Amino acid sequence: MALKLLLVDKDLEWLQAAKSYFEELLYKTVIVGNGKDAQKALYNDKFFAVILNVKTENHSGLQVLKFIKTNHPSQNVIMVTEIEEGIDEEDQLTPEKLKKLGATDSIVKPFEMDDLKGVLEGHQSVGDLVSSIPRRKELGPEEEVDLGDDQFTKVKISEFYSSQPVLFDIFIKLRSNRYIKILHAGDGLSKERLDKYQNEKKVEYLYFQKKDILKYVKFNSYFAKKVISNPKVGGAKKIKMLQNVSEKYLEQAFVDGLKPQIIDQGKDIAENVYDLVTKNEDLFSVFREYADFDPNAYTHAYLVTLFSTAIIKQFEWQSKTTIECTAFACLFHDIGKMKLPPEIATMKVEEMNEEQLEEYKRHPEYGLELIDGKPMINNSVKQIILQHHEHFDGTGFPYGKRGSKILMLSNIVCLADNFVHVIQEQDLKPVEALRVLLQKRDEISWYNTKIVECLINVFVDPAKIVKERAALPSNSRVVNKKVS
Ligand SMILES: [Fe+2]
Ligand SMILES: [Fe+2]
Repeated sequence: MALKLLLVDKDLEWLQAAKSYFEELLYKTVIVGNGKDAQKALYNDKFFAVILNVKTENHSGLQVLKFIKTNHPSQNVIMVTEIEEGIDEEDQLTPEKLKKLGATDSIVKPFEMDDLKGVLEGHQSVGDLVSSIPRRKELGPEEEVDLGDDQFTKVKISEFYSSQPVLFDIFIKLRSNRYIKILHAGDGLSKERLDKYQNEKKVEYLYFQKKDILKYVKFNSYFAKKVISNPKVGGAKKIKMLQNVSEKYLEQAFVDGLKPQIIDQGKDIAENVYDLVTKNEDLFSVFREYADFDPNAYTHAYLVTLFSTAIIKQFEWQSKTTIECTAFACLFHDIGKMKLPPEIATMKVEEMNEEQLEEYKRHPEYGLELIDGKPMINNSVKQIILQHHEHFDGTGFPYGKRGSKILMLSNIVCLADNFVHVIQEQDLKPVEALRVLLQKRDEISWYNTKIVECLINVFVDPAKIVKERAALPSNSRVVNKKVS
């Protein structure tokens, strides 16, 4: 069933252009030029989303938004704004302000229709996505396309999961800057077809366009959720699957920034991590041997997420909210490095001069700056990111906090972070890296001893762990409070 859109704008020419664009993509559209008609349309019909210009007249955009939130609270509303010259910054309608007023998302004019399409797709469920792609009776032709390497991202064909039909165009690479589209969105991709490309044509990677990454993440997150709760699938496969989704997700988030649909998607990944560590009792043995450690920043963030959550799981005070919140913070713990000069962001700490080191030590604060003011991210996430390099003995940065002044969850992320550095830099299996870490006598005082004990327990059969009733650390729980 086609998804229905209500477009509200006083610019009738723009409305017509948007109508033809979205109908080409098989959406159904209703267009109206003022706020009163918009309310009437909402009274008579149901819509997947309302695209609403703030500058709408005869009931302003904000009045219509208020009407929608009162009468149809779950309705998706994408607000369209325009940057207004001569208005103080604090009076501009920012995405955060619109979000607080109930908007699902917002977009600033002028924009390309493709951008609006991206925003809409960001809020579609997997079911919505499947219903809105064009169905094809026959496979589309294979065709060479004129798109550069920078437009594409790749996935190992062995890790590509077939869906019926595929949600976006899929390509194989001929040589640099040369690709062939082998499947069009809507074509069927069966297991047999995948096998044919892999075994007969010896294709190692499938490619798709970066603009489709969020669709890939959404579908694979949904698929991972099912696999993770299936007891017949082994732990290593589940970890790897979530790794693929997380890495593609981070690739997109680091380019696009933390837009609302990206934050939502990150929360889904965090929930999957929670399910993975809490529903699979055999993970301790998989963790010992697990070895797929690309030294890149995305793998790093995923592994920190995985091991932090595996540590928290050992504590009696753990909860779904605490684990998911920490998992989300781990995905973005180093996001502040984006604000560092590129040569410092990629340099090893040991090789930095004093000045570079000072700048590097600011990345937790830069991280906080990047996510501050995002109402969808709770305060604990922000504190974990800010404190992830503080040490229990007071030798960390940026503030040199010590002991109970440091959030327990940050100290956990700090340990997981350094543990993953040993794994990645020395190319060790986790259990070997644990030995190396425990031998670093001068560094072990960076962490609360209880946390170190819990990291050791990550690799022990839960049935063999004698549980003493641990006292509840006062600063460990997540307060599920949104920052205003
Ligand atoms: Fe860091
Ligand atoms: Fe890190």
